Amino acid sequence: MKNSLIMAPLAGITNLPFRLMVKKLGAGLVTTEMVSAMGLAGSKKKTFNYLRSDPAERPLAVQIFGSDPETMARAAEIVVGAGADIVDINMGCPAKKVLKTGSGGALLRSPEKKKQIVSAVRRAINVPLTVKIRAGWTADEPVAVETARLIEDCGADAVTIHPRFVKQGFTGNADWSIIEEVKQHVMIPVIGNGDVFKPSLALDMKEQTGCDGVMIGRGAIGNPWIFRQILESEKGLTPREPELSERRALIMEHFSYLSLAIGENRAAKMMRGLLLWYTKGLPHSSRFRGTMTSIKNLDTLVSALDQYFSFLEDRRL
Ligand SMILES: Cc1cc2nc3c(=O)[nH]c(=O)nc-3n(C[C@H](O)[C@H](O)[C@H](O)COP(=O)(O)O)c2cc1C
Repeated sequence: MKNSLIMAPLAGITNLPFRLMVKKLGAGLVTTEMVSAMGLAGSKKKTFNYLRSDPAERPLAVQIFGSDPETMARAAEIVVGAGADIVDINMGCPAKKVLKTGSGGALLRSPEKKKQIVSAVRRAINVPLTVKIRAGWTADEPVAVETARLIEDCGADAVTIHPRFVKQGFTGNADWSIIEEVKQHVMIPVIGNGDVFKPSLALDMKEQTGCDGVMIGRGAIGNPWIFRQILESEKGLTPREPELSERRALIMEHFSYLSLAIGENRAAKMMRGLLLWYTKGLPHSSRFRGTMTSIKNLDTLVSALDQYFSFLEDRRL
């Protein structure tokens, strides 16, 4: 890993094209979105699509979720066989469909399951194993420290903590003091995660918590440059905003990666959503949004971008 900045697993977002973009912009490690252990162990073709990778993004962490230790162990073997450099276990997802299978955040309530899963996966693979947790089910059941200790005892190599409770979803603030507390109680590296929306916050998190690495999720959506900006801040430089030309070039690059992965027309439609992020906060972005339904292929994407970006350039003159 060339630095300690990690792209968080984000379902529906951290696909291969997205990971290649953030990697290029400085992320030290990228992570797939959560992949169903049942889907992998059951050889579901669609699930295997999540394992598509490219040498340019490595090292790659693949995150798996599930509730059955043997299935999780089998899935871990499969992802390592497919090229994962690191296997990450999801122990925090608050999504209903995940919780109702006893996976993700539901595991935090079951010490026995947590232990069985981490131990079974540990036995199954030789590559580094990490576990991503939340602070507990609710504030009445804080289990971050005991879970991190258990994870360490079961042989995992690092723990990532997003200090919100499962029932909190994404409300309130991430309580970084919990990251600090975890860091004080385990020897393995602790990755802090939560609410790093601008470069200076990554430095603040490291300083306030002593964490060994910082994982960034939503802060990278629409601003994949955040990794480069944090690296600049760490060197004492003022983080650079991307030039308009750079922003546009990145949009086109993202599109071409997507086209390769899913074909031009589907990629063009997907770009509509991505463009909302890439133009967020830019002047008159709502005006551009109005033209987005016209984007159906490469040509219509280029002409929509030409129109909007030349308007932005003219405004600057
Ligand atoms: C759209 C979305 C999808 C997510 N998908 C996953 C996932 O697949 N696995 C996971 O462990 N966490 C997932 N998360 C949680 C993030 O990895 C991260 O822990 C959380 O967003 C807090 O970090 P942030 O404040 O930097 O965004 C997701 C979050 C969002 C917003």
